[in-house]
Amino acid sequence: MSEKQEIVTIDGPSGVGKSTLSRRVAAVLGYTYLDTGAMYRAVALFFKRRQIDLEDDQAVRSALSALNIRLFPPAKEDGDVGVLVNGEDVSHAVRTPELGMLASRVSAIPAVRARLTAMQQAIGRCGKIVAEGRDTGTVVFPAAAWKFYLDADPRERARRREAQLRAAGQEVDAEELLRQTLKRDRDDQERTLAPLKKASDATSIDTTCLDIEAVCATILERIQG
Ligand code: DC
Repeated sequence: MSEKQEIVTIDGPSGVGKSTLSRRVAAVLGYTYLDTGAMYRAVALFFKRRQIDLEDDQAVRSALSALNIRLFPPAKEDGDVGVLVNGEDVSHAVRTPELGMLASRVSAIPAVRARLTAMQQAIGRCGKIVAEGRDTGTVVFPAAAWKFYLDADPRERARRREAQLRAAGQEVDAEELLRQTLKRDRDDQERTLAPLKKASDATSIDTTCLDIEAVCATILERIQG
């Protein structure tokens, strides 16, 4: 255990419950919660506003060098992490389904992954974090002491996402949301660089029929023994 980092990683596809669980586990352990998806969303928003051609490597690199991302704790206990892009609060703007899809596209760009992975590893250097994302257990923190991989039926995940977005006051088309969920799964799993996959030493949990409390209890039991 000596060369293991005091880090918990929680990976899995969209809508599986990673954010809520990671936040709760971090709160119980007194660890910092790191939402890596929020960083990819911030890059997506920045590129969209600057109309960056994602195929243009030079334009991508130059935009990245002008980008500063900061995450800050949520205003509400169970809310999403806040996001600052070059000092502007974009916390709400990054949480739309459109930005989720765009984040998935930008996340396949090598320069973007290199930059965000380095940022995430710098945050993790001090340990005591709960990181959630797609590659936190495989690529970002391979030496994390506790790794979890969550999955659930896509229909159930789309339904959860729908409830979440409606609660946040957003308009939702349920069929479109399911279509996007399936596309994002495919794109995140099939990309060459740091694809969504279970780390060989991660514990798998299928959350389809489990509520948040049950999954949280399973994760904490593993960590706290
Ligand atoms: O978790 P999320 O929905 O906020 O993530 C948005 C997208 O960002 C996701 O579809 C793929 C990408 N992502 C990634 O490639 N690697 C991560 N560690 C986190 C997110």
